[in-house]
Amino acid sequence: MKIGFIGAGHMGSAMIEGLLKAKIIAPENLFVKGGSSGTAEALQKKLGFKLIKEYDALKECQVIFIATGAKIVLEILTQAAPNISKNTILISVATGHTVKEAQAVLGEEIHVVHAIPNTPVSVNAGMIGTVFADQMPSESKAEATRILESLGKVEEVSEDLLGTFGTVAGCSPAFVDIFMEALADGAVLEGMPRALSYEIVAQMMLGSAKLAIETKKHPGELKDGVTSPGGSTIKGVTALEKNGFRYAVIDAVKQANS
Ligand SMILES: NC(=O)c1ccc[n+]([C@@H]2O[C@H](COP(=O)([O-])OP(=O)(O)OC[C@H]3O[C@@H](n4cnc5c(N)ncnc54)[C@H](OP(=O)(O)O)[C@@H]3O)[C@@H](O)[C@H]2O)c1
Repeated sequence: MKIGFIGAGHMGSAMIEGLLKAKIIAPENLFVKGGSSGTAEALQKKLGFKLIKEYDALKECQVIFIATGAKIVLEILTQAAPNISKNTILISVATGHTVKEAQAVLGEEIHVVHAIPNTPVSVNAGMIGTVFADQMPSESKAEATRILESLGKVEEVSEDLLGTFGTVAGCSPAFVDIFMEALADGAVLEGMPRALSYEIVAQMMLGSAKLAIETKKHPGELKDGVTSPGGSTIKGVTALEKNGFRYAVIDAVKQANS
């Protein structure tokens, strides 16, 4: 199998790293076309995939990812279309277009998947929402899912939910990063060394997520398990509520999704 990539920016490079780490593809079978800034060239030196300058090298690829900015994705697909072979699986991780719009540009014989990932795909712990083209053959669906599952958890959603999926899975890592930084700032304020604070906070986040996933307990139940009556945790929870923590988070999702 050969995989092609158009766009190796933040998301493209995260996916390329994840695919190579998962060994789902060997570097010599991964063809990457970057833009004009040299980002793809720098990544190539680190990861050793085949850097391509023209779209015609994509003809050999059975699966092609596109990870360019939302505004130019359909224009780039139009340019690349003559070099995309029949029955190729085209996985777009770009926002701002529908599966039908991509198919209108590429033709019905290209199997289009719209997949919205998040940056943890680079460490194979991503969360990826997928929408498949109508009448996509089940073998192509299974192949696309197999490849995406090497990058993390994959959930098929209806197209009208893909935007919100992208907000919650794709934007939230930044919200969580700010939360982690703030928690560490709190620890530093109390005298904890900075590096140790980040280590503790990151491991705590990982453990809390794992606990929620493995026990399938409601978040409120997990929180109740940590808050003893009159204890320090409920005092912290009260401070968060007093400062509008929940509203701040809900509003962040709403604003990011608008
Ligand atoms: N970042 C996320 O967490 C995230 C999550 C889900 C979905 N997405 C979606 O993924 C897409 C990419 O996002 P991003 O954050 O990775 O943006 P980005 O860092 O700006 O990357 C876009 C890349 O596209 C390249 N490019 C532009 N024209 C090209 C061309 N003709 N051929 C090949 N490459 C070309 C650019 O290369 P040069 O800069 O070298 O010109 C740039 O590296 C967007 O549609 C975004 O909405 C992103």
